[in-house]
Amino acid sequence: MKIGMLTSGGDCQGLNAALRGVAKALYGALPDVELYGIQDGYKGLIEGSWRIMDPREFSGILREGGTILGTSRQPYKTIQDADENNMDKLTMMVNNYRKGAFDALVILGGCGTHKTANALCQAGVNVVTLPKTIDNDLYGTDYSFGFDSAVAKAAEVLDAVHSTAAAHGRVFVVELMGNKAGWVTLYAGISGGADIILLPEIPYSLESILPVIEKRNNDGKHFSIVAIAEGALTKEEAALPKKERKSGGSTSGSRLVKVLDERLEHQDVRLAIPGHFQRGGDPTPTDRVFCSRLGAKAAELILKKKFGRMAALQGTSIVSVPLETVAGKQKTIPPDCEILAQARSLGISLGE
Ligand code: F6P
Repeated sequence: MKIGMLTSGGDCQGLNAALRGVAKALYGALPDVELYGIQDGYKGLIEGSWRIMDPREFSGILREGGTILGTSRQPYKTIQDADENNMDKLTMMVNNYRKGAFDALVILGGCGTHKTANALCQAGVNVVTLPKTIDNDLYGTDYSFGFDSAVAKAAEVLDAVHSTAAAHGRVFVVELMGNKAGWVTLYAGISGGADIILLPEIPYSLESILPVIEKRNNDGKHFSIVAIAEGALTKEEAALPKKERKSGGSTSGSRLVKVLDERLEHQDVRLAIPGHFQRGGDPTPTDRVFCSRLGAKAAELILKKKFGRMAALQGTSIVSVPLETVAGKQKTIPPDCEILAQARSLGISLGE
C-alpha cells in the first residue's frame, strides 16, 4: 500500500504525535506499507511535491511541536479557481494523487482543510482525516487535538499576569486566539481564574464589565483579569454589517484596553497578547494520548478501507464520522451550553 500524509492549515501541538501514531500503527500492521510525506499541506499535493518517509523519521517526534511535513493555508474558496492553463487546484490534486498511484491520503487539519478533503473524496480520492485545531471548532468531534495544549499555554499566561496585576493593582486584558469560536478563551479563562471572559459568540457591553471591576475594587481585590477572544465584539460592533466593522489595525484586546483606560480613572490597564505562543511548544500529555489514539484509528480505517471519514472523539471513544457531515460546519459555543451556565454561577462575567 502507498499512503500519502499531509498536514494543512495553521499548525498546532500534536501534529507530529498524530503522524507518528498513524505511522506506528500502519508499519505495525502492514510491514511493506510505504508512507509518503506530502510537503506543506495541499500545496505539496497541488505541486506534486512529496517524498517517501523513512520509518525512523517518526521516532522521537511524539512531543515535538510543529509538523515534520510542513504546512500551509490553501483557502477552500480558491481551490476551484482556474490558473493560466485553465486548470483548478482541485483537479491538479486529483491528478497528482493518481499520478503518484496513492491508495489513500491521511489528511490532518481543521475546518477549511475538511472542506477540501470532502471535495477530494467526492472526486474519487480515498481520504481519511484527523481533527486538528486549537480552536476546537470542528464539527463531529467533541474535541480536536491541539486544543488542550493551546488552553494550557493560554492558562499559563493568565496565571503569570495574575501576580503582576495583583502587585500593581491593575486590570489586565489577555487576548487569546479564536476568531469565530471562543473555546480556548472560555477554557483558559476558567482555568486561569479570569474575572471576565469575552467570547465571539456573546457580544459584550462595557456597561456590564465596569461594575464587575468596580465591585472587585470595593471588595478589596484591587486587580481584575479579563480574557478576551480575538474575535470578541461589543454589542455595537456586532450589530454592524461585517464590512463596516473597521478595526483600523486594532485588535479586540487593544480596543477594550482603550475604552477601559478612558473609563477607569484611578486604575492602570494593560494588554497581553500571547498570539502564536498558544500554538507552539510541546503537546500536553492529554493531546499526546489523543493524537496517538486518533492515529491508530486512522490506520484502522485504512486497513478496513473505510474512506471518506474523519476519526473523532465522542464521549470517551474514538469513532469515525463521514466527511460530508463535518465539511462546511463550524462548532461554536452553543448559547445554552452547560459550561457557560457554570461559568456564570462561578461569578464569572461574560459581558452580557
Ligand atoms: O485556526 C487557528 C488559529 O490559531 C486561529 O485561532 C487564529 O485566528 C489563526 O489561526 C491565526 O492564523 P495565522 O497563524 O495564519 O496567523
